[in-house]
Amino acid sequence: MNFAMSTLRPFEKDLDKTSPNRNIAPISTEIDTEEKICVAGCSLSGLAQKYGTPLYILDELTIRKSCKEYRESLSEYYPGESMALYASKANSSLALSRIVASEGMGIDVVSEGELITALRGGVPTNKIIFHGNNKSFSELSLAYNNNVIIVLDNQNDIKQLASIVKSEERKARLMLRFTPGIECHTHDYIKTGMLDSKFGFNYTEIENIFVQFKNIKWGELIGLHAHIGSQIFEVEPHRDLADVMAKVLKMGRKYGHPIDILNVGGGLGIRYISSDDPPSIKSWVKVVSEAIFEACNNRSLELPLLMCEPGRSIVGTAGLTIYSIGSKKEIPGIKTYLAVDGGMSDNPRPITYESKYSAYLADRPFFKEKNRVTIAGKHCESGDVLLNDVLIPECKCGDILVVFGTGAYNFSMSSNYNRIPKPASVLVNKGNSDLIQRRELPEDLLRNDILPDRFIAKD
Ligand code: LLP
Repeated sequence: MNFAMSTLRPFEKDLDKTSPNRNIAPISTEIDTEEKICVAGCSLSGLAQKYGTPLYILDELTIRKSCKEYRESLSEYYPGESMALYASKANSSLALSRIVASEGMGIDVVSEGELITALRGGVPTNKIIFHGNNKSFSELSLAYNNNVIIVLDNQNDIKQLASIVKSEERKARLMLRFTPGIECHTHDYIKTGMLDSKFGFNYTEIENIFVQFKNIKWGELIGLHAHIGSQIFEVEPHRDLADVMAKVLKMGRKYGHPIDILNVGGGLGIRYISSDDPPSIKSWVKVVSEAIFEACNNRSLELPLLMCEPGRSIVGTAGLTIYSIGSKKEIPGIKTYLAVDGGMSDNPRPITYESKYSAYLADRPFFKEKNRVTIAGKHCESGDVLLNDVLIPECKCGDILVVFGTGAYNFSMSSNYNRIPKPASVLVNKGNSDLIQRRELPEDLLRNDILPDRFIAKD
């Protein structure tokens, strides 16, 4: 096997090779007898022919396996009750909601759009929690009316809810989000736990909130929440977080609040390129579970229900994007650009965070040549580059390029820059492919445009 394909596999040193987030490609990736890349028994170039490009592809087995790893390791390592929730900001759709719900997971949502997707996808309301640092009145009303747990982020949430909840008979079920003052090594834009974060109450304000809630009859504080960042490869920050959370739990119970849930957020990283080395799902859950157990035990606290909210490590590795290669621009002695039929509108992560990805040709994964190319998108922006300086075999216009690791924060952060329609998404499983989001058409982009009558009159 050539070095390029071997990097798709997990590190040999890893004892926990089956953790999907430690792979670059979905776990059902194979090379068929014609040396074509297949996922879940579907050849990628075949999918390109059937659905067109660019195309988002999700491997159902990888998603289900990731959900199971969270669920099973929580019950293995945490002696109390536990629940993993999928952070649907990573990729929200009816099909994904249905899959994670069928795996027994809850879901975390941050907008009316994500909430109705989860509800219509069949997620039970008692397994949905609603976040947001600037929730609208209608979002809070919808969440309360559906009996969803609401995560209080600031005083504005409290003020609005006070006018939404009319009867004390059905109190709002609330969690309190706070910034624990914990730093982790990830991109500055995706850190959330430090004290100057825009999310949640400051650590120093919490005691006042506990006092304030002693006089509030319309809601009860049933949990605490903190999320320290995303794409994290260390486990130490979550160990530290457990201690801070147990301390706040003790304080909240001292004030008489029925706090019975600790939600440690998400954040576990995935392997985008061969040098990425994230812990497995199992080892992350083990550290978090043991740390919460220990921190509560040390303070003689009855064990709370442990929640976590993984997003990227559920869907990131399950997803890939296929593109058609188009134009080539060679700048002798400087660089060669290969342009694809998508780019920053379907994957804004490289231009936003300088994120790195791994790419292969769908029908020529093995190669000896060392062609260094830069894969550019088709948008009118010089920074619209998906991969810088990667090795790809000699290829021609129309060849299919595969970019792995695009299941999280690609579709959900996609845009219509340059009025480029969003790609379709397909779910692959056991040799079948199902369309789960249809491809946008240029006409769809005109749906909300209005030409004022007076302009028409003038014409
Ligand atoms: N819970 C909360 C409250 C969050 O804010 C997030 C992510 C998660 C859970 C899930 O975190 P995960 O397990 O996916 O790391 N757009 C960025 C990532 C932003 C993450 C925002 N919050 C990216 O593309 O890297």
